[in-house]
Amino acid sequence: MDLKGRDFLKLLDFSAEEIVYLLDLAAELKERKKKGIPVDTLRGRNVALIFEKTSTRTRCAFEVAAHDLGMGCTYLDPSGSQIGKKESIADTAKVLAGMFEGIEYRGYGQEIVEELARYSKVPVWNGLTNEFHPTQMLADALTIREHFGRLKGIRLTYMGDARYNTGNSLMVLCAKLGMHFTACTCARYFPDRELVKQCEELAAVSGGSIRLTEDVEVGTKGADVISTDVWVSMGEPDEIWAERIGDLKGYQVNKKVMENAGSQAVFMHCLPAFHDLKTKIGAEVGAKFGITEMEVTDEVFSSGQSLVFEEAENRMHTIKAVMAATLGWDGGTGR
Ligand code: CP
Ligand code: NVA
Repeated sequence: MDLKGRDFLKLLDFSAEEIVYLLDLAAELKERKKKGIPVDTLRGRNVALIFEKTSTRTRCAFEVAAHDLGMGCTYLDPSGSQIGKKESIADTAKVLAGMFEGIEYRGYGQEIVEELARYSKVPVWNGLTNEFHPTQMLADALTIREHFGRLKGIRLTYMGDARYNTGNSLMVLCAKLGMHFTACTCARYFPDRELVKQCEELAAVSGGSIRLTEDVEVGTKGADVISTDVWVSMGEPDEIWAERIGDLKGYQVNKKVMENAGSQAVFMHCLPAFHDLKTKIGAEVGAKFGITEMEVTDEVFSSGQSLVFEEAENRMHTIKAVMAATLGWDGGTGR
Protein backbone atom coordinates (compact mmCIF):
# COMPACT_ATOMS: atom_id res chain seq x y z
CA MET A 1 0.00 0.00 0.00
CA ASP A 2 1.53 3.32 -1.02
CA LEU A 3 -0.26 6.49 0.03
CA LYS A 4 2.80 8.73 -0.33
CA GLY A 5 1.90 12.14 -1.72
CA ARG A 6 -1.86 11.66 -1.28
CA ASP A 7 -4.13 14.31 0.25
CA PHE A 8 -6.52 13.29 3.03
CA LEU A 9 -9.59 15.42 2.35
CA LYS A 10 -12.55 13.04 2.79
CA LEU A 11 -13.07 9.30 3.21
CA LEU A 12 -14.94 9.14 -0.11
CA ASP A 13 -11.52 9.52 -1.81
CA PHE A 14 -10.20 6.32 -0.17
CA SER A 15 -10.95 2.64 -0.72
CA ALA A 16 -11.92 0.36 2.15
CA GLU A 17 -8.50 -1.30 1.87
CA GLU A 18 -6.74 2.06 2.17
CA ILE A 19 -8.82 3.01 5.21
CA VAL A 20 -8.07 -0.32 6.90
CA TYR A 21 -4.38 0.12 6.06
CA LEU A 22 -4.42 3.49 7.88
CA LEU A 23 -6.15 1.87 10.87
CA ASP A 24 -3.56 -0.92 10.98
CA LEU A 25 -0.75 1.62 10.78
CA ALA A 26 -2.36 3.66 13.58
CA ALA A 27 -2.61 0.53 15.76
CA GLU A 28 1.06 -0.21 15.11
CA LEU A 29 2.11 3.37 15.92
CA LYS A 30 -0.02 3.28 19.08
CA GLU A 31 1.69 0.10 20.23
CA ARG A 32 5.12 1.58 19.58
CA LYS A 33 4.19 4.71 21.52
CA LYS A 34 2.99 2.62 24.50
CA LYS A 35 6.25 0.65 24.43
CA GLY A 36 8.34 3.82 24.12
CA ILE A 37 9.79 2.80 20.74
CA PRO A 38 10.76 5.93 18.77
CA VAL A 39 9.30 6.49 15.30
CA ASP A 40 10.98 9.83 14.62
CA THR A 41 12.48 9.14 11.23
CA LEU A 42 10.75 12.07 9.52
CA ARG A 43 13.36 14.35 11.15
CA GLY A 44 14.06 17.54 9.25
CA ARG A 45 10.53 17.83 7.87
CA ASN A 46 7.95 20.42 8.86
CA VAL A 47 4.17 20.68 8.71
CA ALA A 48 1.85 23.70 8.82
CA LEU A 49 -1.38 23.59 10.83
CA ILE A 50 -4.02 26.07 9.65
CA PHE A 51 -6.94 26.51 12.03
CA GLU A 52 -9.70 28.89 10.95
CA LYS A 53 -11.85 27.40 13.72
CA THR A 54 -10.80 26.56 17.26
CA SER A 55 -9.63 23.12 18.41
CA THR A 56 -8.26 21.15 21.33
CA ARG A 57 -8.01 17.52 20.13
CA THR A 58 -7.17 18.01 16.46
CA ARG A 59 -4.50 20.61 17.05
CA CYS A 60 -2.88 18.67 19.90
CA ALA A 61 -3.09 15.42 17.94
CA PHE A 62 -1.31 16.95 14.93
CA GLU A 63 1.33 18.62 17.10
CA VAL A 64 2.14 15.58 19.25
CA ALA A 65 2.05 13.24 16.26
CA ALA A 66 4.36 15.54 14.27
CA HIS A 67 6.82 15.72 17.17
CA ASP A 68 6.72 11.94 17.65
CA LEU A 69 7.54 11.47 13.96
CA GLY A 70 10.47 13.85 14.36
CA MET A 71 8.88 16.80 12.55
CA GLY A 72 8.56 20.45 13.38
CA CYS A 73 5.18 22.16 13.14
CA THR A 74 3.87 25.70 12.84
CA TYR A 75 0.39 26.58 14.11
CA LEU A 76 -1.55 29.32 12.31
CA ASP A 77 -4.45 30.36 14.53
CA PRO A 78 -7.93 31.53 13.45
CA SER A 79 -6.92 35.19 13.35
CA GLY A 80 -3.15 35.33 13.03
CA SER A 81 -2.50 34.78 9.32
CA GLN A 82 -3.26 36.44 5.99
CA ILE A 83 -5.34 33.49 4.75
CA GLY A 84 -8.59 34.46 3.09
CA LYS A 85 -8.28 38.08 4.19
CA LYS A 86 -5.23 39.38 2.31
CA GLU A 87 -4.12 36.24 0.53
CA SER A 88 -6.05 33.74 -1.57
CA ILE A 89 -6.17 30.04 -0.81
CA ALA A 90 -4.25 29.31 -4.02
CA ASP A 91 -1.41 31.70 -3.14
CA THR A 92 -1.34 30.41 0.44
CA ALA A 93 -1.05 26.83 -0.83
CA LYS A 94 1.90 27.72 -3.04
CA VAL A 95 3.67 29.70 -0.29
CA LEU A 96 3.27 27.02 2.38
CA ALA A 97 4.14 24.15 0.02
CA GLY A 98 7.48 25.87 -0.54
CA MET A 99 8.33 25.71 3.16
CA PHE A 100 6.48 22.68 4.55
CA GLU A 101 6.17 18.99 3.66
CA GLY A 102 2.46 18.83 4.61
CA ILE A 103 -0.44 21.15 5.43
CA GLU A 104 -3.38 20.59 7.78
CA TYR A 105 -6.47 22.75 7.29
CA ARG A 106 -9.52 23.22 9.55
CA GLY A 107 -12.14 25.65 8.36
CA TYR A 108 -15.49 26.22 6.73
CA GLY A 109 -16.53 24.87 3.31
CA GLN A 110 -15.08 21.62 1.99
CA GLU A 111 -14.34 23.45 -1.27
CA ILE A 112 -11.68 25.51 0.56
CA VAL A 113 -9.62 22.50 1.65
CA GLU A 114 -10.10 20.98 -1.83
CA GLU A 115 -8.78 24.19 -3.41
CA LEU A 116 -5.84 24.30 -1.01
CA ALA A 117 -4.96 20.75 -2.06
CA ARG A 118 -5.33 21.59 -5.75
CA TYR A 119 -2.68 24.31 -5.52
CA SER A 120 -0.39 22.59 -3.03
CA LYS A 121 2.37 20.27 -4.21
CA VAL A 122 2.57 18.70 -0.74
CA PRO A 123 -0.15 16.60 1.00
CA VAL A 124 -3.10 18.48 2.53
CA TRP A 125 -5.03 16.96 5.46
CA ASN A 126 -8.59 17.97 6.35
CA GLY A 127 -8.80 18.76 10.08
CA LEU A 128 -12.60 19.44 9.81
CA THR A 129 -14.80 21.33 7.42
CA ASN A 130 -18.54 22.01 7.62
CA GLU A 131 -19.17 18.90 5.50
CA PHE A 132 -16.58 16.35 6.66
CA HIS A 133 -14.31 15.38 9.55
CA PRO A 134 -12.27 12.49 8.11
CA THR A 135 -9.48 12.26 10.72
CA GLN A 136 -12.18 11.92 13.40
CA MET A 137 -13.52 8.90 11.49
CA LEU A 138 -10.25 7.02 11.65
CA ALA A 139 -10.18 7.56 15.44
CA ASP A 140 -13.79 6.40 15.74
CA ALA A 141 -13.15 3.32 13.61
CA LEU A 142 -10.01 2.39 15.56
CA THR A 143 -11.89 2.78 18.86
CA ILE A 144 -14.80 0.63 17.63
CA ARG A 145 -12.41 -2.02 16.30
CA GLU A 146 -10.47 -2.08 19.59
CA HIS A 147 -13.69 -2.53 21.55
CA PHE A 148 -15.62 -5.00 19.37
CA GLY A 149 -12.68 -6.64 17.59
CA ARG A 150 -14.22 -5.92 14.16
CA LEU A 151 -15.90 -3.24 12.08
CA LYS A 152 -17.87 -5.22 9.52
CA GLY A 153 -21.48 -5.71 10.60
CA ILE A 154 -21.33 -3.19 13.48
CA ARG A 155 -24.61 -1.26 13.88
CA LEU A 156 -23.97 2.44 14.47
CA THR A 157 -26.76 4.92 15.22
CA TYR A 158 -26.07 8.64 15.03
CA MET A 159 -28.50 10.96 16.83
CA GLY A 160 -28.80 14.73 16.43
CA ASP A 161 -27.62 16.93 13.58
CA ALA A 162 -26.90 14.25 10.98
CA ARG A 163 -26.40 16.67 8.07
CA TYR A 164 -23.16 18.17 9.34
CA ASN A 165 -19.50 17.07 9.35
CA THR A 166 -19.65 14.25 11.92
CA GLY A 167 -22.95 12.73 10.83
CA ASN A 168 -22.01 12.85 7.13
CA SER A 169 -18.61 11.34 7.78
CA LEU A 170 -19.91 8.51 9.96
CA MET A 171 -22.36 7.59 7.22
CA VAL A 172 -19.51 7.42 4.69
CA LEU A 173 -17.32 5.42 7.10
CA CYS A 174 -20.07 2.84 7.62
CA ALA A 175 -20.85 2.63 3.91
CA LYS A 176 -17.19 2.04 3.04
CA LEU A 177 -16.46 -0.53 5.75
CA GLY A 178 -19.58 -2.69 5.70
CA MET A 179 -21.19 -1.25 8.82
CA HIS A 180 -24.89 -0.52 9.35
CA PHE A 181 -25.56 3.21 9.70
CA THR A 182 -28.74 4.73 11.09
CA ALA A 183 -29.39 8.47 11.27
CA CYS A 184 -31.96 8.81 14.05
CA THR A 185 -33.20 12.38 14.09
CA CYS A 186 -35.97 14.56 12.73
CA ALA A 187 -36.15 14.56 8.95
CA ARG A 188 -34.81 18.08 8.42
CA TYR A 189 -31.50 16.91 9.97
CA PHE A 190 -31.11 13.87 7.70
CA PRO A 191 -27.90 13.93 5.61
CA ASP A 192 -27.89 15.39 2.11
CA ARG A 193 -29.94 13.25 -0.32
CA GLU A 194 -27.12 12.96 -2.88
CA LEU A 195 -24.65 11.82 -0.22
CA VAL A 196 -27.17 9.28 1.09
CA LYS A 197 -27.56 7.88 -2.43
CA GLN A 198 -23.80 7.65 -2.88
CA CYS A 199 -23.46 5.88 0.48
CA GLU A 200 -26.27 3.46 -0.32
CA GLU A 201 -24.37 2.46 -3.46
CA LEU A 202 -21.15 1.99 -1.47
CA ALA A 203 -22.99 0.02 1.22
CA ALA A 204 -24.46 -2.31 -1.41
CA VAL A 205 -20.89 -3.27 -2.31
CA SER A 206 -19.43 -3.39 1.22
CA GLY A 207 -22.31 -5.29 2.84
CA GLY A 208 -23.29 -2.33 4.99
CA SER A 209 -26.57 -0.43 5.01
CA ILE A 210 -27.98 3.08 5.42
CA ARG A 211 -31.20 3.85 7.27
CA LEU A 212 -32.82 7.19 8.13
CA THR A 213 -35.52 7.27 10.80
CA GLU A 214 -37.29 9.72 13.08
CA ASP A 215 -38.31 6.90 15.45
CA VAL A 216 -35.97 6.73 18.47
CA GLU A 217 -37.13 3.33 19.63
CA VAL A 218 -36.68 1.75 16.20
CA GLY A 219 -33.50 3.68 15.37
CA THR A 220 -31.59 2.79 18.53
CA LYS A 221 -32.84 -0.78 19.16
CA GLY A 222 -29.93 -3.21 19.10
CA ALA A 223 -27.34 -0.59 18.12
CA ASP A 224 -23.73 -1.44 18.99
CA VAL A 225 -22.65 2.20 18.89
CA ILE A 226 -24.75 5.23 19.79
CA SER A 227 -23.01 8.37 18.60
CA THR A 228 -23.85 12.04 18.72
CA ASP A 229 -22.31 15.50 18.41
CA VAL A 230 -23.09 19.06 19.49
CA TRP A 231 -26.44 20.41 18.28
CA VAL A 232 -24.89 23.70 17.13
CA SER A 233 -21.56 23.45 15.33
CA MET A 234 -18.69 25.92 15.08
CA GLY A 235 -19.48 28.74 12.70
CA GLU A 236 -23.25 28.50 13.16
CA PRO A 237 -25.01 31.56 14.65
CA ASP A 238 -25.96 31.64 18.36
CA GLU A 239 -29.55 32.49 17.40
CA ILE A 240 -29.99 28.93 16.15
CA TRP A 241 -29.85 27.39 19.67
CA ALA A 242 -33.58 27.79 20.40
CA GLU A 243 -34.59 26.05 17.19
CA ARG A 244 -32.04 23.27 17.60
CA ILE A 245 -33.03 22.52 21.17
CA GLY A 246 -36.66 22.41 20.10
CA ASP A 247 -35.94 20.15 17.14
CA LEU A 248 -33.40 17.82 18.71
CA LYS A 249 -34.30 17.45 22.40
CA GLY A 250 -36.18 14.26 21.58
CA TYR A 251 -32.94 12.86 20.17
CA GLN A 252 -30.81 13.29 23.29
CA VAL A 253 -28.67 10.26 24.19
CA ASN A 254 -29.90 9.27 27.65
CA LYS A 255 -30.23 6.16 29.80
CA LYS A 256 -33.47 5.12 28.10
CA VAL A 257 -31.79 5.24 24.68
CA MET A 258 -28.81 3.20 25.90
CA GLU A 259 -31.10 0.64 27.54
CA ASN A 260 -33.13 0.35 24.36
CA ALA A 261 -29.90 -0.25 22.41
CA GLY A 262 -28.85 -3.04 24.77
CA SER A 263 -26.03 -3.91 27.15
CA GLN A 264 -23.56 -4.39 24.25
CA ALA A 265 -23.94 -0.74 23.23
CA VAL A 266 -21.21 1.85 23.66
CA PHE A 267 -21.49 5.63 23.57
CA MET A 268 -19.25 7.76 21.36
CA HIS A 269 -18.88 11.51 20.77
CA CYS A 270 -16.15 13.39 18.89
CA LEU A 271 -16.13 16.00 21.71
CA PRO A 272 -16.35 18.66 22.99
CA ALA A 273 -19.74 17.71 24.51
CA PHE A 274 -22.44 19.59 26.39
CA HIS A 275 -23.22 17.01 29.09
CA ASP A 276 -23.34 19.41 32.05
CA LEU A 277 -23.19 23.13 32.82
CA LYS A 278 -19.43 23.27 33.45
CA THR A 279 -18.63 25.24 30.30
CA LYS A 280 -19.28 28.89 29.45
CA ILE A 281 -21.62 28.12 26.55
CA GLY A 282 -23.24 25.19 28.38
CA ALA A 283 -24.01 27.42 31.36
CA GLU A 284 -25.35 30.26 29.18
CA VAL A 285 -27.54 28.01 27.05
CA GLY A 286 -28.64 26.03 30.12
CA ALA A 287 -29.75 29.19 31.93
CA LYS A 288 -31.52 30.58 28.87
CA PHE A 289 -33.47 27.44 28.03
CA GLY A 290 -33.80 25.85 31.47
CA ILE A 291 -31.87 22.68 30.66
CA THR A 292 -28.88 21.04 32.33
CA GLU A 293 -27.71 18.69 29.55
CA MET A 294 -27.99 18.75 25.79
CA GLU A 295 -27.02 16.09 23.23
CA VAL A 296 -26.05 13.56 25.93
CA THR A 297 -26.86 13.24 29.62
CA ASP A 298 -24.02 13.37 32.11
CA GLU A 299 -25.10 9.92 33.28
CA VAL A 300 -24.41 8.33 29.88
CA PHE A 301 -21.32 10.45 29.19
CA SER A 302 -19.74 9.35 32.48
CA SER A 303 -20.93 5.73 32.35
CA GLY A 304 -18.94 2.56 31.75
CA GLN A 305 -20.49 2.38 28.27
CA SER A 306 -18.83 5.64 27.24
CA LEU A 307 -15.71 5.37 25.04
CA VAL A 308 -15.24 9.11 24.55
CA PHE A 309 -11.79 9.45 26.10
CA GLU A 310 -10.36 6.37 24.33
CA GLU A 311 -11.80 7.91 21.15
CA ALA A 312 -10.08 11.24 21.91
CA GLU A 313 -6.70 9.59 22.49
CA ASN A 314 -7.04 7.71 19.22
CA ARG A 315 -7.18 11.03 17.36
CA MET A 316 -3.43 11.28 17.91
CA HIS A 317 -2.51 7.74 16.81
CA THR A 318 -4.70 7.92 13.68
CA ILE A 319 -3.54 11.40 12.66
CA LYS A 320 0.03 10.16 13.08
CA ALA A 321 -0.80 7.33 10.68
CA VAL A 322 -2.22 9.75 8.10
CA MET A 323 0.89 11.94 8.20
CA ALA A 324 3.25 8.94 8.21
CA ALA A 325 1.53 7.25 5.26
CA THR A 326 1.18 10.34 3.08
CA LEU A 327 4.70 11.59 3.82
CA GLY A 328 6.31 8.25 3.04
CA TRP A 329 7.42 7.27 6.55
CA ASP A 330 9.96 4.46 6.34
CA GLY A 331 8.52 2.32 9.12
CA GLY A 332 10.99 3.76 11.59
CA THR A 333 13.91 1.95 9.97
CA GLY A 334 15.75 5.12 8.98
CA ARG A 335 16.12 3.82 5.43
N1 CP B 1 -13.22 16.25 17.92
C1 CP B 1 -12.55 17.36 17.59
O1 CP B 1 -12.30 17.64 16.42
O2 CP B 1 -12.18 18.13 18.64
P1 CP B 1 -11.50 19.58 18.56
O3 CP B 1 -12.53 20.52 18.02
O4 CP B 1 -11.09 19.89 19.97
O5 CP B 1 -10.31 19.49 17.63
N1 NVA C 1 -19.90 19.31 14.53
C1 NVA C 1 -18.88 19.87 15.38
C2 NVA C 1 -17.70 18.97 15.48
C3 NVA C 1 -16.63 19.43 16.42
C4 NVA C 1 -15.45 18.54 16.49
C5 NVA C 1 -18.49 21.24 14.86
O1 NVA C 1 -18.31 21.37 13.65
O2 NVA C 1 -18.39 22.17 15.65
